[in-house]
Amino acid sequence: MFDLDNIRENFPILKTQMSGQPLIYFDNAATTLKPLGVIREVERILSTQSVNIHRGDYQLSYEISNQYEEVRNTVAKFINAKSDEIVFTSGATEGLNFIAYGLEYLIEEGDVILTTHTDHASNLLPWFEVAKRKKAKIEYFKLTSEGRIDLTHLDKQIHSKVKVVTLVHVSNVLGYINPVKEIIELAHQKDICVVLDGAQSVAHLSIDVKELDVDFLAWSGHKMCSPTGIGVLYGKKAWLDKLRSIKLGGGANAVFDENGSYELKSSPARFEAGTPAIESTIALKAAIDFLSSIGMDQIHTYEMMLKDYFISKIQHFSHLKVYNLTTDTGIVIFNIDGIFAQDAAAYLSSKGIAVRAGNHCAKLIHHVIGVTETLRASFYLYNTVSEVDVLVETLKEITLEKCVDLYI
Ligand SMILES: Cc1ncc(COP(=O)(O)O)c(C=O)c1O
Repeated sequence: MFDLDNIRENFPILKTQMSGQPLIYFDNAATTLKPLGVIREVERILSTQSVNIHRGDYQLSYEISNQYEEVRNTVAKFINAKSDEIVFTSGATEGLNFIAYGLEYLIEEGDVILTTHTDHASNLLPWFEVAKRKKAKIEYFKLTSEGRIDLTHLDKQIHSKVKVVTLVHVSNVLGYINPVKEIIELAHQKDICVVLDGAQSVAHLSIDVKELDVDFLAWSGHKMCSPTGIGVLYGKKAWLDKLRSIKLGGGANAVFDENGSYELKSSPARFEAGTPAIESTIALKAAIDFLSSIGMDQIHTYEMMLKDYFISKIQHFSHLKVYNLTTDTGIVIFNIDGIFAQDAAAYLSSKGIAVRAGNHCAKLIHHVIGVTETLRASFYLYNTVSEVDVLVETLKEITLEKCVDLYI
């Protein structure tokens, strides 16, 4: 059930202040706040069970190893996958790097990697590097004037030279939900692998990987209420078995000898070399349990209500431009006439309001919206209409002089 007071009670940071004002946190696309269940779980593990997993022949290590593996089951259930299709990573960036470099050996000269101008650096740069090494080409989906993938040209764009389609599921700048079901269907008709960057989708929408039929999906725990340092790479078993591991070391190998030959374990263990972020991983289960108890559909509906309310209040301001009026999620980007986005963000900060300013790590976005820097407000389940009102009122009063005054 969506009980806002109870939800807010779960986030102690909401009782703190920033710049001497009650904290209003609208930077949820960057990272989310952490609920008590997650905080307590980290404290419990660090105070009573801070031993290594899968290595110790003693009771505490067995216990923590079991809890760790239980998280894999929870994550699998959350996205309707199987447990052995879940690889733990340090975050979306690591997962997306694993995929690009792990598939590199399948890419040949002249192959095409198809992506979008709205993608995040973490899903573009690894593929740029792979394309450079293998003399492959990067191509971009055609977009409509609004910045959405143009479905009328889809069949031509996913042509016979395309080897991998890799794209953001929900843009962290425009907030659009990409039409991934259609893309996956078409790509699979041509035996093309599809990779989704789920950094902004898994935390906000109900995701069913079986229904989507996606080959890979990577995301970060910290954007869905868990601590930093834990992410997930989902891969269909057949694809995980084809993916080369680029991180080698303890825990991932079955045998090796002095001549340098080695054999890796089967997936997912072969991707998980080294000691992981144990407490963050176990706390990811607490985060997923918390979000599931509220319901992903309810969370999405609530975010949409906040975003609709916000846009309805600001869209007619003569000094302000919204770039994604039809956003499908709680992400809204805008600029204030004559004020550099970072200066406006600093002013909002002085009023206790946290928003993001800049290019949001999607540096090709100017091809879509014509500017490189914007302000971004991104809503999550603990935000309130009255917090949005404070942002709206502050945006009304903001002037260049007031921003400059901050630096004097
Ligand atoms: C769409 C998208 N992809 C990837 C990332 C990278 O996530 P992380 O920094 O947690 O690895 C982000 C983070 O902002 C993102 O928004």
